Amino acid sequence: MNSFAARVIEWQQTSGRHDLPWQRTRDAYRIWLSEIMLQQTQVSAVVPYYARFLARFPDIASLAAAPEDNVLALWSGLGYYARARNLHSAARTIVDRHAGAFPRAFDDIVSLPGIGRSTAGAIAVFAFGARQPILDGNVKRVFARAFGIAGFPGEKKIETAMWGHAEALLPPGDVEAYTQGLMDLGAGLCTRSRPRCERCPLQDDCVALRENRIAELPAPRPKKPLPQKSTVMLILQRDREVLLEKRPAPGIWGGLWSFPEIADMDDAAGVLRIRFGAEVMAEGALPDVHHGFTHYALTITPALLRVTSLERRTHSPGHVWLTPADAINAAIPAPVREILRRLDRG
Ligand code: ADE
Ligand code: SF4
Repeated sequence: MNSFAARVIEWQQTSGRHDLPWQRTRDAYRIWLSEIMLQQTQVSAVVPYYARFLARFPDIASLAAAPEDNVLALWSGLGYYARARNLHSAARTIVDRHAGAFPRAFDDIVSLPGIGRSTAGAIAVFAFGARQPILDGNVKRVFARAFGIAGFPGEKKIETAMWGHAEALLPPGDVEAYTQGLMDLGAGLCTRSRPRCERCPLQDDCVALRENRIAELPAPRPKKPLPQKSTVMLILQRDREVLLEKRPAPGIWGGLWSFPEIADMDDAAGVLRIRFGAEVMAEGALPDVHHGFTHYALTITPALLRVTSLERRTHSPGHVWLTPADAINAAIPAPVREILRRLDRG
């Protein structure tokens, strides 16, 4: 047997969990239910739901016969309700296609709604003593660290490589202890933050521990590119002054002073006539200014406009005429300051 599996098995037998409500049974229905509940929920939260669910639906036949609403009601508070709908639908499939007996063949198990390859593996191992690998989120974390596997484990290429490890590491026997051991290790020792490496049976060979890479493994999901937005800022110039307006709060830059904005340049003159009673002459554009927010990236096109005539509407409390040198010291957003600096330099 490979030493990885031997260590996991030995550790599981001495230090793993043996008294969870879904252990010490070969009832495939009970094991299936536990694996579904444990997919996205911690053991401590699952335990009371598991007991209540089994008291109400002690077997596949009673689950299949129930209205979906009753199943969902028992799931209420556990979250991820697709799990309950799939469970119910799978129970009906088992009654229709497998005469009400949970299927033993891996291909039949993995075909049921809500059961992916890892969950099917766990059920096959725990209910039927089959020799199948698992690869849930916890196991991915252990593998990424123990073998120093870089890359996001949700990515197809990395996941395929990890399934390769999972298959290759599978011991010839004691697969139940091995499988439970992997789960217990991932949940109890090799936790996301501050793993308890000093108690880990894999510490002598663990790549992440040896190379000080625990914090960076497993790699996080790559960040989505930020949405790109754009705006046109109108630099209205009169004599040596520019017009700033106070931005409404709430909203980005709420309460700060900024240039009036329009979505695009096409109708600038018309908008200005309506908003300020201003007649303007285009004087060209400054280079775009780029600004990053946490949730999007903003490209600002500063349009230079010379005011040729003006009604008094820009003398309201929300507007102010300032020289670029004075405006730079006002409460303004960083990209507006950048534009003012360029103006000031001339
Ligand atoms: N998480 C998923 N399956 C589990 C199991 N059988 N025991 C403990 N935690 C688990
Ligand atoms: Fe995880 Fe530490 Fe064990 Fe490595 S030694 S597998 S990082 S708990």
